[in-house]
Amino acid sequence: ITVPPESATADQEENVGVYRMQVLGRDRAIIRWLAHRGGARHHQQWKAIGRDMPVAIVIGADPATILAAVLPLPETLSELRFSGILRGERPDLAPCLTVPLAIPAEAEIVIEGFVSATETAPEGPYGDHTGYYNSVEQFPVMRVTAITSRRQPIYFSTFTGRPPDEPSRIGEALNQLFVPLIRQQFPEVTDCWLPPEACSYRIAIAAIKKRYPGQARRLMLGLWSMLPQFSYTKLLIVVDDDIDIRDWRAVMWAVSTRSDSSRDLVTLTDTPIDYLDFASPKSGLGGKLGIDATTKIPPETDREWGVPLAMDPAVVARVDAMWATLGLSGMPAPVLT
Ligand SMILES: Cc1cc2nc3c(=O)[nH]c(=O)nc-3n(C[C@H](O)[C@H](O)[C@H](O)COP(=O)(O)O)c2cc1C
Repeated sequence: ITVPPESATADQEENVGVYRMQVLGRDRAIIRWLAHRGGARHHQQWKAIGRDMPVAIVIGADPATILAAVLPLPETLSELRFSGILRGERPDLAPCLTVPLAIPAEAEIVIEGFVSATETAPEGPYGDHTGYYNSVEQFPVMRVTAITSRRQPIYFSTFTGRPPDEPSRIGEALNQLFVPLIRQQFPEVTDCWLPPEACSYRIAIAAIKKRYPGQARRLMLGLWSMLPQFSYTKLLIVVDDDIDIRDWRAVMWAVSTRSDSSRDLVTLTDTPIDYLDFASPKSGLGGKLGIDATTKIPPETDREWGVPLAMDPAVVARVDAMWATLGLSGMPAPVLT
């Protein structure tokens, strides 16, 4: 938990994020926040005025606070406030002892201290949620000023590695939470899915209720710009709302029948990208690909567009009713789209 230098005590501008730490000694540890994170943004502001930044590390808190901390919220929305929205009540906060910050009252263990404006140390190499070891990089060092805990604290941890790991499962849950955020800006979005096998954010699929030509492209450019986290999404596929975007077979059917590579690809170069993405040409700078797999309407096309096959509902119901008598009860019913 951090705040920018202007605010003396915790206010709506505090940032909460989940970041890896490496213990260096009894009272020193590295905090590893990537450049686009809220914690790194605050640290830059403290560095600019030459002061060490107060920080509170919380190990274990109520689930709403932890979810809010990992959710890619807009930079202007406080995670603690959002955790209150999730829980339906204001978060219960308690003051720290040695830094001017407030922490969730349910915290299990709290480590207080200051992140140096100048000192860095080589971090890693550790395995990451991408399924690779990170390269060793310099990150800022924190000096610990106090450690407090509940009487019998629970040490809260996680397991991470190549998906499916625990964070990618959390990512699936988070999908449900940020769709309403996207819809505030883009009400045409009916669903958005970050497949866990794509490291939780590198590939996204969005379904829209399309109304006008070029709408899928507008959404791509909007999504890539809307939240810092989406700048890490290097492949974005937009489909119509009749496609179940959580089913790759349905998504690939839409891509193969509703998109054409000479018209429906959007490519960008030299955009911000995860520095962990070693496939990008430069560290922190890479490309984006958008595939518009929506139904094309004039003037996107002047050709007659296909009408999806559909079975007569009465026939479907009749076959469903016969399924057991056909000796097929042990087999899954066919999926009809
Ligand atoms: C288990 C776990 C470990 C994470 N480790 C890091 C990390 O070491 N560094 C980092 O920058 N983000 C890490 N993240 C992702 C951030 O917590 C997440 O992007 C969050 O939204 C950042 O919040 P912020 O943008 O407000 O800083 C991790 C997430 C999880 C679930």
